[in-house]
Amino acid sequence: TNDIFILAIESSCDETSASVIADGKVLNNIVATQSVHEKYGGVVPELASRAHQENLIPVVQEAILTSGISKSQLSAIAFTRGPGLMGSLLVGVSFAKAFAYSLNIPLIEVNHMNAHILAHFIEDPKPNFPFICLTVSGGHTQLVLVKDPLTMEVIGETQDDAVGEAFDKTAKLLGLPYPGGPLIDKYAKLGNPKAFQFPITRMPELNYSFSGIKTAVLYFLRDQLKENPKFIEENLADLCASVQYSLVEMLLIKLKLAVKEYGVKEVAIAGGVSANSGLRDTLTKLAKERGWNLYIPKFEYCTDNAAMIAMAAHFKYLKGEFSSMDVTPLAKMKI
Ligand code: KG4
Ligand code: ZN
Repeated sequence: TNDIFILAIESSCDETSASVIADGKVLNNIVATQSVHEKYGGVVPELASRAHQENLIPVVQEAILTSGISKSQLSAIAFTRGPGLMGSLLVGVSFAKAFAYSLNIPLIEVNHMNAHILAHFIEDPKPNFPFICLTVSGGHTQLVLVKDPLTMEVIGETQDDAVGEAFDKTAKLLGLPYPGGPLIDKYAKLGNPKAFQFPITRMPELNYSFSGIKTAVLYFLRDQLKENPKFIEENLADLCASVQYSLVEMLLIKLKLAVKEYGVKEVAIAGGVSANSGLRDTLTKLAKERGWNLYIPKFEYCTDNAAMIAMAAHFKYLKGEFSSMDVTPLAKMKI
């Protein structure tokens, strides 16, 4: 038969995930989230590698078991080559190589950022080419012109922190645990986005800068706390809403500019921060006003997951793009 069955592995940061895809249809998406990092206020690379080591085989076993497909039917093994944490990537790459070698099937490397975008092809409705994707995660903030599944061009990106990092770092200043992005989102729903004014940094062209906001919040809080030691707890919702407002504004200013410059009205968002309800709501309204076709992936496919790696691998399989056995992970990897 012509069936293409691919097992994909994602281990670039702090989620260990495996997924099986059959002829482009994702059968499952098993994710083991690492909780060890919470008390440190950020991902500790060495602990992440160890947790991947522990979780990977059970996660792969569950993916194979629940797919109803046997190991011997697999056509290829896919894995995240980068970008990500070197130690975390190594666990996935080494496992994928060994597994592909033992089954005598091809190996497919996937770029994690590419895969975040291709998560849009897991379910309907799928964007039409070309489309513009705003990819927003804990490590990246990019505007990407997607010409076909394997041809993408970064047309703008952050020059310093990623927007997810800005969410997490300001959350930390507000005393919230890691990762703080989802908590800012939660409290923001109860607050007034105009209560406080945080800076909206405007970079040249389609580029971003998110490092200013955490410094602004730091100094603002320092001054307020001098007057009122309970300032944060008394204003948490308003603080979260105001921070979120600035971050979302910054994202959308450049997205609007990109749509105008490229004349492309197919617009998508991807990556962990696309789970943010402030971004989703504001963008949904904006798209309606401006007649854009907007694509937002299901929450499960926004944050790190192997289903998106499997989807990307399927496209590569169709083009015969395989990796050699001496492939190594890349902490930094361009789209
Ligand atoms: O794509 P992702 O799961 O991992 C990376 O590749 O970085 O993104 C994780 C980032 C974290 O910074 C997290 O705080 C942020 O996405 N995030 C959110 C929300 N959900 C996840 N930020 C704001 N609002 C949310 N609802
Ligand atoms: Zn990611």
